[in-house]
Amino acid sequence: MAIILIGFMGAGKTSVGKLLGKKTEKNFIDLDYEISKRLQMPISEFFVEYGEEKFRETEHELLLEYHQSSGVISTGGGCIETVACRELLKQQTQVIYLQAEFNTLWNRIIDDQLNIRPLAQSNESKDLKRIYQKRLEFYEDCAAHTIATDHLTTEDVVKQILQTIDW
Ligand code: S3P
Repeated sequence: MAIILIGFMGAGKTSVGKLLGKKTEKNFIDLDYEISKRLQMPISEFFVEYGEEKFRETEHELLLEYHQSSGVISTGGGCIETVACRELLKQQTQVIYLQAEFNTLWNRIIDDQLNIRPLAQSNESKDLKRIYQKRLEFYEDCAAHTIATDHLTTEDVVKQILQTIDW
């Protein structure tokens, strides 16, 4: 059964997922990477050309395809915006919510020059905070386990996950 990481942008889903994959000797699947391969363009470009709704459709398709694998899956922060994704996630027992306060996430997002996040580019801090607040209940609803990551390193988070789940 897959271990699925959820959480807002900047929660560390990709770095935690990579390390967790290594430690558990499971395949690491970065859903955003798979989506941009499927779309044959960077996510930021796809948002501009086709819009968020089309992006969400592909995101759901790929979650459906991969959720039954035995890998470690990092999802995009907005995956839980889609009802069908939430329904699917709620049925899984290994969904880990990487939780953090908005200010922690905002600082990580603006420090990360490599990852172009369309929603972070098109929204100011206060608007992104509104999106964060709206999503909180979705993350909590879908999570089988929650890890508060504000003061933890990637290593610490992985250690906590390994103590929390069966793998
Ligand atoms: C999104 C988060 C991104 C990516 C896309 C949309 C969101 O993933 O899927 O830009 O709606 O929060 P990360 O959470 O990995 O940055």
